[in-house]
Amino acid sequence: MKITCGTDIIEIDRIRKSIDQDSKNFINKIYTENEIEYCESKSSAKYQHYAARFAAKEAIFKAISNNLSNRFELSWKDAEVINDKNGRPRIEFINKKIEHLRSIEISISHCREYATANVVAVWDD
Ligand SMILES: CC(C)(COP(=O)(O)OP(=O)(O)OC[C@H]1O[C@@H](n2cnc3c(N)ncnc32)[C@H](O)[C@@H]1OP(=O)(O)O)[C@@H](O)C(=O)NCCC(=O)NCCS
Repeated sequence: MKITCGTDIIEIDRIRKSIDQDSKNFINKIYTENEIEYCESKSSAKYQHYAARFAAKEAIFKAISNNLSNRFELSWKDAEVINDKNGRPRIEFINKKIEHLRSIEISISHCREYATANVVAVWDD
């Protein structure tokens, strides 16, 4: 068994600007339908949730990139963050099988200025 991790932190204002400048293109390029639905349900706090999911995707990439044959194997919408009924996030890969990945866990946090995500991946030998 091997364990890898990935982390990311992002300024929420950076994501706010990207969304406000070119909302449709930016959002549709980065986020899945489930993620958009979740973030838009948060009304004025939506930028924090969008930023958290951006950090999540960067952290996922950091955690699994060593096991990809090339970095373009994974695109923004291949992985999504889903929250259970208690709000706990998990990662789902969409139509994508990551070879030898046994499990992957995520934790997210955000405040007014920053969003951060930490990912731990467990691999078969
Ligand atoms: C769930 C909780 C930890 C969230 O913490 P917070 O400081 O309010 O919010 P943060 O910005 O740090 O984190 C928000 C993220 O936490 C994650 N989260 C929410 N509920 C969660 C849960 N039940 N388990 C794990 N992660 C959770 C989500 O990913 C959320 O971001 P998202 O909505 O964009 O996906 C908090 O609301 C809570 O219930 N605290 C009680 C802790 C407690 O009882 N401690 C005593 C025992 S040790």
